[in-house]
Formats: sequence, structure tokens, C-alpha cells
Amino acid sequence: MSRKNPLVAAVVAMAVFGASAVGTAYADAPKYPSVEKTSADTPKKYKMSKEFMEAVGKLSPEFLEQFKKMTSKHTRFSEDATARQVMMELLSDTQCVTTMLMVENGEMAADCALRASAHRWPKGHLLAYVQLNQINVDSLGALPGINELVEKGLERVADMAMKKDFISAGAEMGNVLKGCATCHALFRFDKGTSKYIVGE
Ligand code: HEC
Repeated sequence: MSRKNPLVAAVVAMAVFGASAVGTAYADAPKYPSVEKTSADTPKKYKMSKEFMEAVGKLSPEFLEQFKKMTSKHTRFSEDATARQVMMELLSDTQCVTTMLMVENGEMAADCALRASAHRWPKGHLLAYVQLNQINVDSLGALPGINELVEKGLERVADMAMKKDFISAGAEMGNVLKGCATCHALFRFDKGTSKYIVGE
């Protein structure tokens, strides 16, 4: 290509200008929403029912501390997403992981796995979506094990996907799904059944 060709010069100039213009726009653009940032920097405080506060108040400080530590990686807070909506995000991101593993797209599988692992935190804390009679150490004691399967599992999947070890990553996804199903067996209630079906 000739350096004297005016069209080429114009195209080059536009490309340079275009690149810098885009760069400026990005620098000025809000960083939200993004994988790192959401609408709220800290969880908003809500007035919770007396019954809920009583149930949480009965948990030991040690247990609460452990729970806080376990959930500390969640730094993306939502002011209005319900737990069910966050679950739909989890579903969508884990579907992305399985799809990308199948087509050996390690980068995107890892992206989706890490996003699922550090999922958004629902309005009013996850505990706000648990049945009152399950807010106790007996029931909630299952969560660290589940967390190890799901959130830590997804981190392992991301690692394996980046190493292009798609077979191991796929097998590890099995453990992740085991964690989803275990938690649902224990804590998923009000399964969307119809109150109009009254008999067979
Ligand atoms: C900490 C426990 C827990 C874990 C782990 C968990 N879920 Fe859930 N999930 C729930 C609860 C509780 C509900 C019901 C929420 C509601 O209805 O308010 C739910 C509901 C859902 C729903 C909504 C649809 C329905 O029929 O209720 C989807 C989809 C879902 N979960 C997907 C997933 C996926 C995918 C994973 C694993 C990657 C997962 N969940 C892991 C607790 C969990």
C-alpha cells in the first residue's frame, strides 16, 4: 500500500481518531454495571420483621462470623434483585459454563464460572429468603459444604477451563450441580405449584 494514497491516509487517520475517541468514552463511562461493580457498593439496610430479627438473633456470634467469612466474596449487591432473580442469573451463567466447555471455549467458560461463583447478592441478604424455621445452626450448618461444592467448585472449573482441561472441568461441573440440587432439596420452597389444581 502506498503512503501517498490519500484514501489509505484518511482511513488510517480515522482509525487512530476513532480509537482515541473510543478510549475517551470508556474512560468517562460509568463503571456500572460490570462484572466488578453493581448499583450498590454496600448492602442497603432494610427494616426486617420482628420474627426474622429474633431468629437471626438466636444464631451464635461465632456462627454469624463464619457465615460472613463464607459470603465475603460477594461484593456485588443489588438493591432490588430477589433471591429467585439471582438464582436465574446463576442458572444462566452455569448454562454458559457448560455450553462453553462443550465447545472448548475455555476463556468464556471461565468468565461465566467466576461470575456465577461471585453472584450478585440479593436485596436484604440471602437469609431473608429462607424459611423462618430454617434460620438455625442445624439447617444453615449445611451451607459451608454446599458452598464448597458450588462456589469453590466454580472457581476450580474456571481454573481447569483456562488450562483447557475440559474433561476435568466438565466432571467438576457435576459437583457444582450436586451443590445446587442439595441446597434446593433443603431450602427451596414455594415451588410455583398451582393452588387451582385440587385433585386428580
Ligand atoms: C444456598 C442455597 C442454594 C444454592 C447453593 C443454589 N440455590 Fe437455587 N434456589 C435456592 C432457593 C432457596 C430457591 C428458591 C428461592 C425463592 O423462591 O425465593 C432457589 C431457586 C432457584 C431457581 C428458581 C426456579 C425455581 O423453580 O425455584 C433456579 C433457576 C435456581 N435456584 C438455580 C440454581 C442453580 C443453577 C444453582 C447452582 C449453580 C443453585 N440454584 C444453587 C437456593 C439455592
